[in-house]
Amino acid sequence: MSFDGSPPLVSLADYERVATERLGEQAASYIFGGAGEEITLRDNFAAWRRLALLPRMLVGVGRRDPSVELLGVRRPHPVLIAPTAFQRLTHPEADVATARAAAATSTIMCLSTLASTSPSALADAVPEATRWFQLYVFADRGVTREVVAGAAEHGYEALVVTVDRPVLGVRERELSSQVRSLTVEGLTDAFKSTGPATPADFTAVIDPDLNWSDIERFVAESPLPVLVKGILTAADARLALEHGAAGVIVSNHGGRQLDTVLSGADALPAVVDAVGDQLDVLVDGGIRRGTDVIKALALGARAVLVGRPILWGLGLGGAEGVQRVLELLLAEVDNALALVGAPRAGDLDRTMVARAPWG
Ligand SMILES: Cc1cc2nc3c(=O)[nH]c(=O)nc-3n(C[C@H](O)[C@H](O)[C@H](O)COP(=O)(O)O)c2cc1C
Repeated sequence: MSFDGSPPLVSLADYERVATERLGEQAASYIFGGAGEEITLRDNFAAWRRLALLPRMLVGVGRRDPSVELLGVRRPHPVLIAPTAFQRLTHPEADVATARAAAATSTIMCLSTLASTSPSALADAVPEATRWFQLYVFADRGVTREVVAGAAEHGYEALVVTVDRPVLGVRERELSSQVRSLTVEGLTDAFKSTGPATPADFTAVIDPDLNWSDIERFVAESPLPVLVKGILTAADARLALEHGAAGVIVSNHGGRQLDTVLSGADALPAVVDAVGDQLDVLVDGGIRRGTDVIKALALGARAVLVGRPILWGLGLGGAEGVQRVLELLLAEVDNALALVGAPRAGDLDRTMVARAPWG
């Protein structure tokens, strides 16, 4: 993909650069922004770069296999599409375009509770995409139960309960560019908008008192495996295990919630040490290169999620743009597996990563 005869976009960084130039002010500030001084936002990216790779030679890398086992199912590769709200702000085809790209690249797509497309409409439009559903728990538990039942009924394969957004982070870019006019399909009972809605309006319907017994209830009531998204400590990972979760996603919400928390890369090892042999541990935040993906796997993650780069692709080229972003990242993963001397994703381990001297 290229623009106006300019050189083709060959990395996610190229997509970021052009998206910065071309997305409108509201979409750009919503997508790019983080909380507070954006220290965590920047460090999410930097932390993967503070890790050096220690490649092995002469292991035979002619045949490579990036597949991983996730929730007991073998998946063709370790990259997932992170849930992101309000994709229509970025492109009119929104989640449907993203799901088409997911299907074309065998990537699992996580649909946000605050998506521009309802779970049922997305399932009807792109039934061939493998979908997980991300849940924000509403104060109205009747609506929450309906949303969860709807996801299971429409073929979503896991429930990702996001727990790091009891209140909205202090997002100054969103506030100063007055992000509004947001819409969510399929939640009319939970959210009756009287005018252009802002991220804060949607946050008002989310339950700030969510606790571990709620997680246990979702596990008991939902036919789907439950992953807890937004874990940053070993202690919380152990609680997720005790309360029946099938997995945890080490995440700081893309640096959009509490500023100065640890990056995914730095929080991951302690979580893997605590629960990695009993739960699937995934990680997100700042993943922009194939080398980031293999470092995450080497530290013990089963898979990674990618947020903003998907939106850069969506904004610049709809389904084709998202597909290209995923293909670029997956090609880099394949290249990195060969060059680090781990032809199968399962060959990666902690001996292959170290603190970088330049960090
Ligand atoms: C614009 C935007 C919207 C997001 N919306 C949601 C959401 O609705 N639910 C959720 O659990 N996480 C949401 N996230 C967080 C992502 O799922 C993910 O944790 C984060 O973006 C990963 O970091 P990255 O963007 O650096 O890849 C959002 C992130 C962004 C950038």
